[in-house]
This record gives sequence, structure tokens and C-alpha cells, in this order.
Amino acid sequence: MFKKMGIKTIILAAGQGTRMKSNTAKVLHKIAGKPMLQWVVDTANQLDSQTIVVYGHDAEQVIKKTIGHNIRWVEQKQQLGTGHAVQQAIAELADDDLVLILYGDVPLIKKATLANMLAVVDNKTMSLLTVKLNDATGYGRIVRDNGRVVKIVEQKDATQAQRQISEVNTGIMAIKGDQLRSCLSKLKNNNAQNEYYLTDIIEMLVESGVSINTTHPDNEREVQGVNSKLQLNQLERYQQRLIAEDLMSQGVTLTDAKRLDVRGELIINGQDIFIDCNVIFEGKVTLGSNVSIGANCVIKNAQIDDDAQIYAHSVLEDCCVGKATKVGPFARIRPGTVLGDNSQVGNFVEVKKTNLGKGSKINHLSYIGDAEVGQRVNIGAGTITCNYDGVNKSKTTIEDGAFIGSDTQLVAPVTVGKNATIAAGTTLTKNAAANTLSLSRTKQTTLKGWKRPTKD
Ligand code: UD1
Ligand code: MG
Repeated sequence: MFKKMGIKTIILAAGQGTRMKSNTAKVLHKIAGKPMLQWVVDTANQLDSQTIVVYGHDAEQVIKKTIGHNIRWVEQKQQLGTGHAVQQAIAELADDDLVLILYGDVPLIKKATLANMLAVVDNKTMSLLTVKLNDATGYGRIVRDNGRVVKIVEQKDATQAQRQISEVNTGIMAIKGDQLRSCLSKLKNNNAQNEYYLTDIIEMLVESGVSINTTHPDNEREVQGVNSKLQLNQLERYQQRLIAEDLMSQGVTLTDAKRLDVRGELIINGQDIFIDCNVIFEGKVTLGSNVSIGANCVIKNAQIDDDAQIYAHSVLEDCCVGKATKVGPFARIRPGTVLGDNSQVGNFVEVKKTNLGKGSKINHLSYIGDAEVGQRVNIGAGTITCNYDGVNKSKTTIEDGAFIGSDTQLVAPVTVGKNATIAAGTTLTKNAAANTLSLSRTKQTTLKGWKRPTKD
């Protein structure tokens, strides 16, 4: 079973999220490309804790889309309050566990903030994360007596005087398993919302002699919950700012830290990397030294080696770009493409599932798909691999040193041998042997004495 002692993190994620106005469960909405719940699960994993997620809505999707080892999923059939939600997880807890309570819609909480909280928890102390807000409306207020926390009152249950308190409950707390269990069993729902409030355990603990240690996050955004698309965007921009600052601290030059989006993991594998404005990175992207990314590029799951230049408006996905290789402007590099060192793919060129050898060039207006292209090959403007007959895909092989004239169609499967030349305008349907010239053209004729038609 799961009950082995240690840190257990209970993540409350049963809320519906009506205000998101979406068919997607609230906790699956993404910040920087990662679902909110996944952020919280990942942070909990960093603490070596075992995670219990209390779910309610869209169970199937939420479970399917959340990655983590050893997550326990506990259903809360009816949402009867935060205390009731935690009660659903109680069977998973051992008395000596340090229990951390987090929220699936509070994604950006930091490991260090939580580690601070956990460090002081024992039989005599629990930890509560609080913040002071200019506008505390809606939150549970922290009621203190001579500086000591005595209870939390919810907005709807608070007196006028209590509503003036600016210190609020973030909801995040850390407590011993036995204390939590005993308090939860005593919860009642005789309050303004007829809910079982988790926050009521504070007063019970104080009465039984446990002291409430309050800590605070470095930044309010860490404890901000998401209930609407506006709040989702506030956290998105905050997180993107942190990512941009981290990149700059690694030596990356950004023309505008506000116009960069990293929706995944951007690995900086060198120095003097330059990223122009409006670039979007998705999935896992690795950049080597001296790589330069032009404006408005979208780059997903790619490895871009030292000295490569990606010019403006290029879209790259699931591909590798070799050293000193040039891509774009306006190039589309599709999945399964490997561009060799010192190769070039120019404007309005689409490349799919192709190996382009070292030093080879496809500089203008071409489609090269399902191809194996050797080294030092020159592919002229307007070259097309006809790789699809409507049913099957076929392969085009172009060997080292070949020269493909402009406006050539390579009807696959077909092979162009080493150093072969294909004349401009050719439709190649048969293999071209090494060192030969192949051409397929109708003879040019010129009609002498021909006159342009004139208007009647
Ligand atoms: C709660 C706190 C309040 C705190 C605020 C911080 C209580 C009683 N109040 O209030 O002191 O200032 O959060 O944002 O705890 N949830 C469930 N099941 C339920 C109810 C809630 O899983 O039955 C989850 C929600 O999905 C959400 C979280 O718990 O992630 C908080 O619930 P919410 O209803 O937003 O609580 P608040 O009234 O905002
Ligand atoms: Mg709330």
C-alpha cells in the first residue's frame, strides 16, 4: 500500500471551474505549455513526496493527461467543501506523515516555499502559508490574537471588522497526519456556505495547543489561483517573464523579453545565442552556441546545433538542424527531418522526413519529402519530390554531388546517382545513373511571323 511514512501531498482538484467557460477541466488548462495540475504534481515530486490527487470533474481526461509516478487518485463525488475534499484522502495517510495540502488550480507554487513550510512541522507546530493583499475580498482572513494565529474566517462568515484584515489564507498548509485526521473528523458545516471548511481545523489545533507557524511566498503569483481566463493569462505572463529572465541569466540575448514564449523546455547548450522577437518554442528545444533565431519563428521539439541560423518566419518541428546550417526565411521543416552540417534550406521550402547531407542546398520554393539526400547536393528552385500516389508514400534518393535543375519533379520511388545532373524542367520517372545527364523536355519550337492577337 501507499501508507509508508514520509511527505504526502494532497492536491485538491475537484472544483468545476465554471468561470473558465470551457469544456476542458480547469486543472488541465496550461501555463507555459504544461497543465496546471502537472505543475503542482511536478513540484510535489521535487519534494520526494507521494501525491494524492482529489478529483471530481472530467476524471478520465484529468487522469489520462497527468504524468507522475505513484499518484493516488481519490474521487470526491460531491464538492462539499475543502475539508470534505481532504477527508477523501485520509485513508492514504499515516499518523507520522507530513501532509502538504496544495491546489490543482494554484500552479506556480515553488518548491523552496514548500520546503520552508515542511521544515518546521512537528507534533506541536503546523505551517500555514499566508499573504497580505491590498484587496483581500473573497479570501479567508487570518485572525490573530497578540500576534498569534487563532483562526481563519471565510469572507462570507466574517464580521465587518474581520473583513478589514489584509492577511489572507492561501489554502496551502503542512501538518502532521494524525493531527489532520483528528481535526477533519470533527468538522461541521454550520456556516454561511454549508460547507466543510478545511480552514476550521486551525481553531481546533490552536485549542489543542498546536501553534500555527505562518510563512509567506516570495511572490504573490506563487499562490494565485486560477478561476478565469484573465487569471490564467496573468500567470502565463508571469511565468514567461521568469523564463525570459532565466534565459538571459544563462547568457541568451533577447531583443524583447516580453515577446518570447516558451511552452515547454528550452535547453541552452552554449553561449552567444540570439533570439529575436515573437519567437515561440514548444516541447523540448535545444540550442547550441551562436545559434540565432529570427523574428516570428515557431520551433517545436528541435535540436539546433552550434552556429546555425534560423531566419525569420520559419516553422520547425521534430527535427535536427546541423552545425552552421541556415534555414529560412519562410521555411517549413517538418517532422523527421535532419539537416546536416553546413546545409541550407531557403525561402518557401518545405522539407519532410528527409535527411539532407552535409553542405547540401535547397534554397528556393521546393518540396522535398521522404528523401535521402547525400552531401553537396544542389537542389534547384521549384523542385518537387512526388512522394505520394494517393495511397502510398515512396522514397527519393539523391546521392552525393548530384545537381537537380530547377522545376524538376522527382517521381518516387526514384534514385539520382552520384554526381548526376538533372536538367531543368525534367520529370524524372526512372533512375538517373551516376555522372550522367538526364532530361525530359519537349523540343522547343519557335513560330516565325506569329503575331499577338489584337482587340476586335
Ligand atoms: C479557500 C479557503 C480560503 C482561501 C482561499 C484561497 C476554505 C474553506 N477556504 O476558499 O480561506 O483564502 O481558498 O484561494 O478552504 N475544492 C475541492 N472540493 C471541494 C471544494 C473545493 O476540490 O469540495 C478545491 C477547488 O477545486 C479549489 C480549492 O479546493 O482548487 C479551493 O476551493 P474554493 O471553492 O475555491 O475555496 P475558496 O472559497 O476560494
Ligand atoms: Mg477559490
